[in-house]
Amino acid sequence: MSQVEVFIDAERIAARVAELGAQIRADYGDKTILCVGVLKGSILFMSDLIRAIPGDVRCGFLGVSSYEGTESTGIVRITHDLRQPIEDCHVLVVEDIVDTGLTLEFLLQTLSVRKPASIKVASLLDKSARRKVDVPVDYVGFPIEDRFVVGYGLDLDEQYRNLPYVGLFKGA
Ligand code: IMP
Ligand code: MG
Repeated sequence: MSQVEVFIDAERIAARVAELGAQIRADYGDKTILCVGVLKGSILFMSDLIRAIPGDVRCGFLGVSSYEGTESTGIVRITHDLRQPIEDCHVLVVEDIVDTGLTLEFLLQTLSVRKPASIKVASLLDKSARRKVDVPVDYVGFPIEDRFVVGYGLDLDEQYRNLPYVGLFKGA
């Protein structure tokens, strides 16, 4: 664990997630929100965020994969599709991090074909300096610089997802 240094601690994450939840509910009024978590990186953010949004919230999960090691392969694959139709639903895509934006662009294209009433994006982290395509991120937990981070759901080759904080990966 010495390769990882605390970057955003659990307390800061919890405070920001509470703010986001309140803001999201205020923006949606009394609408039902279908939170679509992007597996696997969003699992911890998703579970905290849905508890921070009062009122009617539903959940779905989509699995995608594009990363190997610390680099995106650029090719996005669906590894697990939603189990429910999203037509006429207010979809909130819940992501761990938006980096190049390629995953999100693919997801937004894939989901918009299914005719949701609306579609927005909440991402815990936003590494906007690395963006290759312009994608809308409606709710951002923390903008970050171009650093590789792990923990709170984010992994390096499946390791570190269980850290309760976002950490900086310092290398071997
Ligand atoms: P994008 O398609 O380049 O925007 O990449 C999005 C996905 O790559 C995220 O949902 C993460 O799963 C993964 N990713 C991007 N940056 C990092 C990072 O710093 N740490 C861990 N995973 C990352
Ligand atoms: Mg992800």
